[in-house]
Amino acid sequence: MFSFFKKEEAPPDIQKVKEKEDYEDIVPIANYFHKETGIIFDKQVSILKNKVISFCRQRNIHSFKRLLSDIQSIEQLKQELIDHLTTNETYFYREFKQIMELVKLVQKSNVPVQILCAPSSSGEEPYSIAIALLEAGVPASGFNVVGIDINSEAVAKSKNAEYKQRSLRNLSDEIIAKYFQIHNETYILRQDIKSSVSFEVMNIFDENYQSIGKFDFIFSRNMLIYFDKETKLKAKKILESLRKTDEYNVFFGHADLF
Ligand SMILES: C[S@@+](CC[C@H](N)C(=O)[O-])C[C@H]1O[C@@H](n2cnc3c(N)ncnc32)[C@H](O)[C@@H]1O
Repeated sequence: MFSFFKKEEAPPDIQKVKEKEDYEDIVPIANYFHKETGIIFDKQVSILKNKVISFCRQRNIHSFKRLLSDIQSIEQLKQELIDHLTTNETYFYREFKQIMELVKLVQKSNVPVQILCAPSSSGEEPYSIAIALLEAGVPASGFNVVGIDINSEAVAKSKNAEYKQRSLRNLSDEIIAKYFQIHNETYILRQDIKSSVSFEVMNIFDENYQSIGKFDFIFSRNMLIYFDKETKLKAKKILESLRKTDEYNVFFGHADLF
């Protein structure tokens, strides 16, 4: 009797209160990301917000506040967010004229040279340098290239050195045939070219940045475009401090204006 007044008990999984999403204020995330990486999203805040929301939803993180606290305490999550938000567009023989300027300088050297590529993204740029040097007759023993990038997925791809046609769009058929093996529309770089370049996940603003050593030549193209003026100058100073001497300027990209 009177059973219709009784509240029916909900099945256990409906009982779980669904956490409410709170994705309003992206500014603290943007500020933290800027402080850590140098990257600003000034004119692209709505793009940033959408990207961060999808990042959170994939991981059941229901608010930006929670994400902010988690990335400050969980290193792996912070790295995943960096991988998710950095732009890694690159391709072989990009701005090739500048690579040839470097080749000419290396040809004049009587001793083996160390070259830094910061950032190296997925490896196309440092490998381009290695290929261009070999093509110009510089022996493999005459140079060594180090690539660093803050994006761990890009660095893993660099080490793997397998590319799609899009990355090779500036290369001649002759260079492709000489340096790549083609398998199922994947272009696999020759092992000796892979061996002439080493890669490391590194943030140029890490306090330990000096541990990568000193270099005869430094390439830093298309990274400063993501920074504000103050951060560009800070990065420039860091990169310049990694030169063995101040004889040569750091090679910046044409879009990396100060
Ligand atoms: C557009 S790519 C440029 C790659 C290559 N240098 C080129 O010009 O083709 C920019 C790269 O900068 C990296 N990057 C951004 N901020 C960085 C930082 N603070 N330290 C190291 N790498 C960073 C990104 O992960 C991305 O791979």
